[in-house]
Amino acid sequence: MSYRNSKVVIVGAGKVGSTTAFSIISQGLCEDVCLIDVNREHAVGEALDMSDSIFFMHRNVSVHAGDYDDCADADIVIITAAAPMPKDSTDRLEMLKPSLGVVREVVQKVMASGFGGIFLVVSNPVDIMTYYTWKVSGLPAQRVIGSGTYLDTARLSRALSEMYDLAPASVEAYVLGEHGDSEIVSWNSATIGGKRVDAVMRDNADRTAGVTREDLRKRTVQAGWDIFSRKGNTCYGIAASATAICKTILFDENRIVPVSVYVEGQYGIDGIYLSVPTIVDHTGAKEIVEIDLEKDELDALRKSADLLGAFYDRLDA
Ligand code: LAC
Repeated sequence: MSYRNSKVVIVGAGKVGSTTAFSIISQGLCEDVCLIDVNREHAVGEALDMSDSIFFMHRNVSVHAGDYDDCADADIVIITAAAPMPKDSTDRLEMLKPSLGVVREVVQKVMASGFGGIFLVVSNPVDIMTYYTWKVSGLPAQRVIGSGTYLDTARLSRALSEMYDLAPASVEAYVLGEHGDSEIVSWNSATIGGKRVDAVMRDNADRTAGVTREDLRKRTVQAGWDIFSRKGNTCYGIAASATAICKTILFDENRIVPVSVYVEGQYGIDGIYLSVPTIVDHTGAKEIVEIDLEKDELDALRKSADLLGAFYDRLDA
């Protein structure tokens, strides 16, 4: 796989899918972006609209609506298709039942094309949908990744960086586990400019203003709902995180990112898809990184795994 003639197919041209496509085009990450949607005319409209933007971009990317045959030579297929989230929803797990059939059909059709690339699953509840995609596809787990808590990690980094008036990228603080209520923060490994976040919070008590670690974790969990309750979806943050994962794959970056991967023994968790720091390259989830967690963090991560695993026998793959 090379950086040239690379192709990303996005299944689901709704808010998340279209924003992800536009983000990939804006960054010129590949030559070909294809949108597939049950409403083909909508996908055509989105693709035409985005095509008008290419003139202003730094790279000539072809963007078009397509069908599942387009997946045959795709480097990455991003799944954003799902049933709509109920309006009064407060838990991504509520989307599981209605979305299962959608995702199963998508994965079967992608596989029928002779797809030889990497699945990036974004549809919620993302950890379970990623597991389901892996099961239905029959692909090696390395080639099936979920967007997981990369977005939550960005949200936490932003909250910390705002407290201390820093660039978010200067914060390294992983959010791990379920992309949802049971997610955890690895405070033990969290640093700002090489200094432990605990120490930063203590040494800058005036700016920390009494905010606790648990306050920050809860705010991170809540962040998506603060958006969803106002506009009925979230799209920019998730699209940016999906784009960053695509870049890591397409550019063979070997970047360590917290994404949903199949954990087999690491952290004492076995056979569960959830987010842990992972080295991602052109082969997908190349290697899980086992960082040192505090005992309560490890316990919480395992609880998060148990919570997710409890859903597996409800899937009929
Ligand atoms: C969010 C959605 C993608 O957290 O789950 O914004």
